[in-house]
Amino acid sequence: MGKTSAFFIKTAVSLISRGKLSVLGGIMTSVLAPVLLICVVLDIRGTVDNPYFGFLIYLILGPLFVLGLILLIIGVFISRGKEDIGLFTFEYIEEQLTRPGRYTRIRRHILLSLIFTLSTLLLVTLVSYTGFHYTESTAFCGLTCHQVMGPAYATYQHSPHSRISCVECHIGKQSQWLTKAKFSGAKQIFAVLFDTYPRPIPQPITSLRPIRETCEECHRPEMFHGDKLYIKDRFLPDEHNTHVQTALLMKIGSGGYLGRKAQGIHWHVSEDHPVFYKYTDHAQEDVAEVWLQDGEREIRFSKASATEKLDTSQQGTIRKMDCMDCHNRPTHVFLSADEALDEKLVTGIIPREIPFIKRQALETITPHYASIDEALQKISRGLKEWYDANYPDLANQDKTLLDKAIAGVQQAYMENVFPEMNIDWDTYTDFIGHKNGSGCFRCHDGRHVSENGQTISNDCDSCHFILAENQPSPDVLSLLQQTFQHQRQP
Ligand code: HEC
Ligand code: HEC
Ligand code: HEC
Ligand code: HEC
Ligand code: HEC
Repeated sequence: MGKTSAFFIKTAVSLISRGKLSVLGGIMTSVLAPVLLICVVLDIRGTVDNPYFGFLIYLILGPLFVLGLILLIIGVFISRGKEDIGLFTFEYIEEQLTRPGRYTRIRRHILLSLIFTLSTLLLVTLVSYTGFHYTESTAFCGLTCHQVMGPAYATYQHSPHSRISCVECHIGKQSQWLTKAKFSGAKQIFAVLFDTYPRPIPQPITSLRPIRETCEECHRPEMFHGDKLYIKDRFLPDEHNTHVQTALLMKIGSGGYLGRKAQGIHWHVSEDHPVFYKYTDHAQEDVAEVWLQDGEREIRFSKASATEKLDTSQQGTIRKMDCMDCHNRPTHVFLSADEALDEKLVTGIIPREIPFIKRQALETITPHYASIDEALQKISRGLKEWYDANYPDLANQDKTLLDKAIAGVQQAYMENVFPEMNIDWDTYTDFIGHKNGSGCFRCHDGRHVSENGQTISNDCDSCHFILAENQPSPDVLSLLQQTFQHQRQP
C-alpha cells in the first residue's frame, strides 16, 4: 500500500513538474482546495457573519481554483515535449495494454487520474452549488457592485420589505425567469467591469417578471377592503418649525372576492374589468389613451380633444395596468427633500427646538452637489455659518444640539441622494399618489374623456376623504383621541 501511494505521488509530481504552467496550476489547486473546502463548510454552517465572506469564497477563491485547474490541465496535456505527445496516441495505449509489464502501470495512471478527477469534481460541484445560492443572497445583490446597487440597497434597508431577499421580487422561483436573470446578471457584471452601466439606472426597469405573481405571493389585494386612516406629519419652514398633520381616509378597497364587488382603489386589480393604456414616453407618464374592458363592453378614454379623438395611428406602447402602475416604488423609496427632513424631525433625529431648522436645512440640502463629500461639507458649513450669524447664542450655548441637527440633515441627504449614480432629489417618480401631476393623475386628471363624455374622475373624494390638510393638531384627530379616552374611562 505504502509503495502504491509513493508511486502515485511520484507520478503526480513528475507529471506536474514537466512544465512551469502545470507547476503553478498544481500549487494553486493543492493550496486552494483545502482552504476552499473549509470556507464552504464555514459558509454553509453560517459561522462567519461578514457580508464580504461569500464574495471572497465565490468570486475570488473559487475562480482562482478553477484557473489553477485549467493551468494544470493545459500544462499536463498540451504544452509537453514532442516525445510525450505519443503518450496519448492510440498506438501508445495499445502498446501499453498489450505489454504485460506495462499494464499495471497504466492501470495506476488511470486510477490516479480518476481519484483526482472525482475529488476535484466533488469540490467544484459543492462550490458551484453553494455559490449559486450565494448569488441569490441579498449580500451579493446589494454589496458586490457597491456603487451601482448602493442606492437600491440603501433604500431597501429602511423599507417595509427589508427582510425579503432581492431575488424574491427580482427573480422568483420559476426557472424561466431564473435563467433570464442569470444571463442578464452576467451581462451586468460586464457592464460594471467596463463601466458602461447607465447612471442612474432608468425607470421603469424591464427585467421584472410578471409583477402580479411576485407581489401576490404575499399580498392579496382582491381581499383588502374598507378604508384606512393615513396620517402624515409635516413641518412648516417657519421659526418654530410648526408641526402640522394631514389626515386622509384612504379608500383601499378590494379587487372583489367571493362574490363581493370590486371597489375603491384596488378596483383596478380585478380581472373582471382589466384596464389598458397607451403611453408615449419612456417613463410611462404621458398617457394618451385608457380603455376599460368590462365583459363585452369597452370604454375608451382619450386625452386628445374631441376633434382629433381616437387617432389610432398615434405612436405609443400598450400596457395592461398592474400593481406597478401605482406601487412602482414599494421598496426603493426615495423621499423628496421635504419628506426626508420631516421624517428626521418627527423622529427627533433633527431637534425641533432649533429655530428655522426646517427652512435652513432645506436650503442647504437641495442644491446639486458633485459628490457626497462636497455635500456633507457644505451642509455642515452652511448650517454652522447661518446659526453663527443669526443665533450666536445657540451656537455658544449648546453646541451638541446643532451638531446633532447637522448629522441628521446629512443622514437625510445620504439616504436619498447618490451623486456618483446621478441620483438627485426626485430622480425617481413614485406613482402611488399624485405628486406633480404624475401617478394617479396620469389618468385621473379629468382630461381623459370617453366618446359619450364620461371622464376618469379627479374628484378629490373618489380616492380619499381629506379629513385635515396641513393643520396643527387637527380637530378630527383630537376627537378620535377624546373618544378613545372617554371609552377607556369606567
Ligand atoms: C418588494 C420587492 C422588491 C425587493 C425586495 C427588491 N426590489 Fe429592487 N425593485 C423592485 C421594483 C418593483 C423595482 C422597479 C421600479 C420601477 O421599474 O419603477 C425595482 C428596481 C430596482 C433597481 C433599479 C433601480 C431603481 O431604483 O428603480 C435596482 C438596481 C434594484 N431594484 C435592486 C435591488 C436590490 C439590490 C435589492 C435587494 C437589496 C432589491 N432590489 C430588492 C422591487 C423589489
Ligand atoms: C415575500 C413576501 C412579500 C412580497 C413578495 C412582497 N411583499 Fe409587500 N410586504 C410584505 C410584508 C411582510 C409587509 C409588511 C411589512 C411591515 O408591516 O412592516 C409588506 C408591506 C407592503 C406594503 C405596505 C407598506 C407600508 O408602508 O405599510 C405595500 C404597499 C406592499 N408591501 C406592496 C408590495 C408590492 C407592490 C410587492 C410586489 C412588487 C410586494 N409588496 C411584494 C411582504 C411581501
Ligand atoms: C390603482 C393603483 C393601485 C393598484 C393597481 C394597486 N394598488 Fe395597492 N395600494 C394603492 C394605494 C393608493 C394604497 C394605499 C396608499 C399607500 O399604500 O400609500 C395601496 C395599498 C396597498 C397595500 C397596503 C394595504 C394596507 O391595508 O395597508 C398593499 C399590501 C398593496 N396595496 C398591494 C398591492 C398589490 C400586490 C397590487 C397588485 C396586485 C396592488 N396593490 C395594486 C394603489 C394601488
Ligand atoms: C392607467 C390609468 C389609471 C391610473 C394610473 C389610475 N387609474 Fe384609477 N381608474 C382608471 C379607470 C379607467 C377607472 C374607471 C373610470 C370609470 O369607470 O369612470 C378608474 C377608477 C378608479 C376608482 C373608482 C373605482 C370604483 O369603485 O369604481 C378609484 C378609487 C381609482 N381609480 C383610484 C386610483 C388611484 C388611487 C390611483 C393611483 C394610485 C389610480 N386610480 C391610478 C384608470 C387609472
Ligand atoms: C385617483 C385618486 C386620487 C384623486 C382623484 C386625488 N387623490 Fe390625493 N392622494 C391619492 C393618493 C393615493 C394619495 C396618497 C399618496 C401616499 O400614500 O403618499 C394622495 C395624497 C394626497 C394628499 C397628501 C399628500 C402628502 O403626502 O402630504 C393630499 C393633500 C391630497 N392627496 C389632496 C388631494 C386633492 C386636493 C385632490 C383633488 C384635487 C386629490 N387629492 C385627488 C389619490 C388621489
